[in-house]
Amino acid sequence: MRAVELITKKRDGGELSAAELGCFVQAAAHGHWPDYQLSAMLMAIYWRGMTPAETAEFTRAMVDSGKRLSLDHLPGVHVDKHSTGGVGDKVSLVVAPLAAACGASVPMMSGRGLGHTGGTLDKLEAIPGFRVHLSEPEFFDILQRVGCVMLGQTAEVAPADKKLYALRDVTGTVECLPLITASILSKKIAEGISCLVLDVKCGSGSFNPTLVQARALAETIQRVGTANGLKVRTYITDMESPLGNAVGNSLEVIEAIDTLRGRGPVDFTELCVVQAGAMVELAGLASNAVGARAMVQQALSSGAALAKFRQMVQVQGGDPAIVDDSGKLPQAPERAAVLAKSAGYIATQNARMIGLAAMKLGAGRATAEDRVVPSVGVVLHKKPGERVRVGEVIYEVHHDDRAEVAQAIAELERSYSITDDPPELPKLILEVLA
Ligand code: URA
Repeated sequence: MRAVELITKKRDGGELSAAELGCFVQAAAHGHWPDYQLSAMLMAIYWRGMTPAETAEFTRAMVDSGKRLSLDHLPGVHVDKHSTGGVGDKVSLVVAPLAAACGASVPMMSGRGLGHTGGTLDKLEAIPGFRVHLSEPEFFDILQRVGCVMLGQTAEVAPADKKLYALRDVTGTVECLPLITASILSKKIAEGISCLVLDVKCGSGSFNPTLVQARALAETIQRVGTANGLKVRTYITDMESPLGNAVGNSLEVIEAIDTLRGRGPVDFTELCVVQAGAMVELAGLASNAVGARAMVQQALSSGAALAKFRQMVQVQGGDPAIVDDSGKLPQAPERAAVLAKSAGYIATQNARMIGLAAMKLGAGRATAEDRVVPSVGVVLHKKPGERVRVGEVIYEVHHDDRAEVAQAIAELERSYSITDDPPELPKLILEVLA
């Protein structure tokens, strides 16, 4: 099949057959098409979308582009959690050790930052020495010994997604329902889990600005995941403003550790407790949500979840001392502040603008080759609903004095609004499927 014919067919709104989708996916996995043709196909899919049958076939082809791992020889129920991507979304860093401390087996294969959103792998790599590239025997060994392991896609798992994910990031083709569905589920199905908690983000900082879009994605993922034998629970959660207070890799690791110590921001802690609880419940370790929540809270307050995190860091080559001394994590050399120009209540904080500002500081990538700077980012000193006086710090900017700092600060200046009266705040969890 000629690449240009398949691209043209999709461009003109045609439905690709299983064989045609398989050809595209194999081309991505094995380098049969140059990047410009893969990118053109991604753009055609972005504009034309896919039918439910195409989405299911595309996901299957992505799984079959590599190896399906079997975790059957390892003890426990294997459960993972994945997010469609947001700003300040460091939930995975907390829920993996939290669910493992409750007895779940958590093989978590994650991705890098995409567009203005952060990625779990970039956050983990802020920890000096932490290895996200593990061989298959290491992956199995750590999972068995610790109960959780956090790693990048191995070369064998969904290699087509690895290629397409990197291209989407730099070709404006991230926000696309079938591409997101196949990207997430191919990795999850291939990694050998039986249960999946999915967090579909909704709002300015996500790839789903409206609830209608978020719901369509959530329903598609729930349907395709279930059809592939996974027990799936999908949450639609608010991403109008960043989650927690920290945005930026090292800063987010610090906030995740604070949360595992029981000292995290309220919104972030609550989402972690709910989603770790869902993992525990789906894995059959508690008979209902109330029991699962109690287990999770006990794992937090006893320090068991923090101990799991420390053990995972050590076993994966990271410096476990960062857990007790955040000064051992990368620190940005410079600080700047964005101050309130009027008094009142913070009404909105646009997560996308804050994510873009963090990207300009170096926390994310503008091109696939860019190196992420672990230390830079933004700390939110005020959040929606909080009172603010003139001159108070709204954002603390951690930076390395690069040329783009002024642009990032200008973006942050525009990212919030202040009202005289307390605003009505969106709910954290908007909907739950299954
Ligand atoms: N996470 C993924 O793995 N893929 C996407 O497309 C979006 C979020």
